[in-house]
Amino acid sequence: MALQLLGLSFLLVLVSLLAAQGQEEPDPKVQGVPWETETCQRPRWDSRLRLAPDQESYKKNEEVTLSCPEGFHPSFTHVKCEGKGQPMSHRQPVYTDTWWGKDSRGVWTRIPSSVECIDVLQVVPGTLEISSTSIKLNWTCRFPDACQRMQATCRLAEPSSPPCEAEEVKGEEILHGQEGTFTCPPLQPFTDYSVTISLPPSTILFTWLVRTEETVPDKLEKLWLDPNTGSLQWKPLPSCKGEIIGYQLNITARRARDGGFLEVERLRLSSSVTEHLLPEHSPGNSYVVTIQGLTAAGAGAASLWEFHANSSDTPHPLNISCRSIRDISPSQGTAVLPLRPIARPPELAREHQLIVAATHNSTAVEGACSGDPQPFNASWQPGAYVAAVLNLTAPTDFVLGDGTHGQGYYNAALRPGSDYTALLRLVRRSQQADKISCVCYSFSLGILWFVLSRKRKSSLSSKAKEDN
Ligand SMILES: *[C@@H]1O[C@H](CO)[C@@H](O)[C@H](O)[C@H]1NC(C)=O
Ligand SMILES: *[C@@H]1O[C@H](CO)[C@@H](O)[C@H](O)[C@H]1NC(C)=O
Ligand SMILES: *[C@@H]1O[C@H](CO)[C@@H](O)[C@H](O)[C@H]1NC(C)=O
Ligand SMILES: *[C@@H]1O[C@H](CO)[C@@H](O)[C@H](O)[C@H]1NC(C)=O
Ligand SMILES: *[C@@H]1O[C@H](CO)[C@@H](O)[C@H](O)[C@H]1NC(C)=O
Ligand SMILES: *[C@@H]1O[C@H](CO)[C@@H](O)[C@H](O)[C@H]1NC(C)=O
Ligand SMILES: *[C@@H]1O[C@H](CO)[C@@H](O)[C@H](O)[C@H]1NC(C)=O
Repeated sequence: MALQLLGLSFLLVLVSLLAAQGQEEPDPKVQGVPWETETCQRPRWDSRLRLAPDQESYKKNEEVTLSCPEGFHPSFTHVKCEGKGQPMSHRQPVYTDTWWGKDSRGVWTRIPSSVECIDVLQVVPGTLEISSTSIKLNWTCRFPDACQRMQATCRLAEPSSPPCEAEEVKGEEILHGQEGTFTCPPLQPFTDYSVTISLPPSTILFTWLVRTEETVPDKLEKLWLDPNTGSLQWKPLPSCKGEIIGYQLNITARRARDGGFLEVERLRLSSSVTEHLLPEHSPGNSYVVTIQGLTAAGAGAASLWEFHANSSDTPHPLNISCRSIRDISPSQGTAVLPLRPIARPPELAREHQLIVAATHNSTAVEGACSGDPQPFNASWQPGAYVAAVLNLTAPTDFVLGDGTHGQGYYNAALRPGSDYTALLRLVRRSQQADKISCVCYSFSLGILWFVLSRKRKSSLSSKAKEDN
């Protein structure tokens, strides 16, 4: 073959030499060498390409049809041999096979490098979107003819098993056109799905196994008290909507004996814990308990469990029967609170806060006990405020409203005519739990006509001064 080619180029050179010499009668043998005997070698392109006809060499102008395995498409479907191409170098004539391909408009163009098998479908990178209830992707079809009847489906990757029931999705969509967005129908969170795009009957163009995102867990269904141990127990939540990483348990307890004693416990328990001892459980105490499952997505809906000492009525929130006090001075805006240390043992110096709220509303009082009250602020009334902090080690009479300042707190004078609740509060915080204990005192500063009439008089006289 190589020898033949050498011979051919020799002849070509000879022909031009003869012509230059003006010879009238060229050698009839040379004249008879036809251009069309030029051939192309079987092209060494993508190994997956199938050629028809499939030969070792092709004659000049011979057309070849190309195809690829299913799901792929050749960059040119029709090519033809153009014979030898341009010399690569003028000094050393190097001839290469030249192939032309028919482009999408049916025009023959020179094939730049090679023909490849290309994926018919492309899922646009970076457009895969996963949430707890949906999967979405953008696709493009590069050879619209090859994408007819393309079908996308979402399926459960594996059959659901108790306790997590996942319904099979009936999501099947024929994809039309050259590009689009495919969205799975509403899905369950934290569940494995396979997303497939296929060409009937059985060619899979794209398949993807994906788990939907986590969401907050369901409410706990079962919560009960073991009356013998005073332990609150619950049925653990299954990790259906997300991995259960723990429980948020909030307990508000009111003690029957020792009136006006309110205890708020907020605990973060690990997922393996399924019971908790109620604080100082006794049949006389009342409890309001909320429990929430936790996943990486957050806390789920709270289940409520209530136990009331008096089961004949179940008020919510707990009615707090606060201690009453007698030593009240409306004229001075003060009240004397007989405080006792909450900390045990009481000798341990612990900072107790004294919180004041101008209300008897038990929701508001409970909020003041479990909340985060700030120092007194005149423009923020009637919000709860911290009047003082004290290290209580022994029973002490404390004068509320005496106008003293200390440690950044202002023990502001109380306003006549208002209902008040005072809370002595002890907070114990740790990483896993907040335990807040409050003792409440409630009282009212009766309306003082004397004070009011003096105020009216002074405002009248100041008004008279202004008029002058
Ligand atoms: C996906 O396609 C939709 C419309 O088909 C378009 O609005 C959206 O921007 C695309 N997303 C990306 C990331 O290209
Ligand atoms: C329980 O307490 C935590 C911590 O303060 C709080 O984030 C959560 O909202 C509370 N749960 C309920 C049901 O009140
Ligand atoms: C329980 O309720 C009844 C009627 O509502 C009431 O008379 C009684 O004093 C209550 N007992 C306690 C301990 O609160
Ligand atoms: C709880 O308080 C409300 C309003 O303050 C009152 O009507 C109700 O009788 C109280 N319930 C109990 C059991 O004390
Ligand atoms: C008690 O306070 C809560 C909020 O602080 C409020 O929603 C409720 O209406 C109040 N109840 C009464 C009887 O004022
Ligand atoms: C009181 O509250 C107002 C409004 O919230 C705030 O602008 C002001 O700084 C507060 N004063 C003090 C002393 O915290
Ligand atoms: C309470 O005692 C602690 C430790 O002795 C001390 O650091 C703190 O300042 C005291 N607080 C008050 C309000 O006296």
